[in-house]
Amino acid sequence: MAALDLDLAGHTALVCGASAGIGRETALILAAHGARVVALARRRERLEGLVDELSAVSGSAADFVVADLDDTAALQRAVSGVSATILINNTGGPPAGPLTEASPDALRSAFNRHVIGAQVLLQAMLPDMQASGYGRIINVLSTSVREPIPNLGVSNTIRGAMASWAKSLSKELGPGITINNVLPGFTDTERLASLKQAVAGRTGTSQEAVMQGWIGRVPEGRLGHPSELAGLIAFLVSPAGAYIRGQSVAVDGGRLNAI
Ligand SMILES: NC(=O)c1ccc[n+]([C@@H]2O[C@H](COP(=O)([O-])OP(=O)(O)OC[C@H]3O[C@@H](n4cnc5c(N)ncnc54)[C@H](OP(=O)(O)O)[C@@H]3O)[C@@H](O)[C@H]2O)c1
Repeated sequence: MAALDLDLAGHTALVCGASAGIGRETALILAAHGARVVALARRRERLEGLVDELSAVSGSAADFVVADLDDTAALQRAVSGVSATILINNTGGPPAGPLTEASPDALRSAFNRHVIGAQVLLQAMLPDMQASGYGRIINVLSTSVREPIPNLGVSNTIRGAMASWAKSLSKELGPGITINNVLPGFTDTERLASLKQAVAGRTGTSQEAVMQGWIGRVPEGRLGHPSELAGLIAFLVSPAGAYIRGQSVAVDGGRLNAI
């Protein structure tokens, strides 16, 4: 039996939100599998450091784009010269809070950053995917696609919109071009640290107690590491992942109750 084909040599991957957390680990593992990575985020100094690491990992030149997904026109300009057959849609999650207290602008802004940003990037990269007959699009969403999370009302709403966007596209994109969602559970990143701080402040408990409460709901008994999400992404974008299409896959240590 042949080994799995996880080789990404010859492919360029545009990895968004690559300056930290899940995006950064994804950039590193895709480079380790041979992809040329173009890393996108707002913090230039972090991207410069990452590009040096990526070049060392893959031996091929990596590149970066400084762009803010909140600014649609600037995003379109920033990626106009980028060609990629692998697109990782990943960006900062919306602020926590109940939906009853969220302003219409909070929803508008989250829709703009997540759905409009992904649409701009899809349309910019699709011609190269179609020309090469190989395309992989991954959206980093949340387990809230399956079970909405209390006190993350705007995030829950926007993740559902992204999941519908992806499912619709999975029927429209031609053979060889797949789209899938990965759903992080409690993953040890800057995003989780800021949520922990917010919950502790709101409930008057310690951050340690908040974290232990989260871990208590995870059968694996620990937080996830961003590299565990990145490993699934590397598989889905590889030749071996070719027949997986329109799916949402959780990496949550078993926390979801949904079958
Ligand atoms: N960690 C978890 O437990 C968890 C659980 C469920 C869902 N998620 C979701 O998974 C995604 C990734 O999470 P993470 O934990 O890796 O987050 P993170 O550590 O906060 O990293 C977020 C990344 O997105 C970039 N970013 C944020 N706003 C941006 C913008 N307007 N334009 C361009 N880039 C932007 C950040 O870079 P710059 O600041 O340099 O732009 C950073 O590279 C998020 O949507 C998060 O909500 C995470």
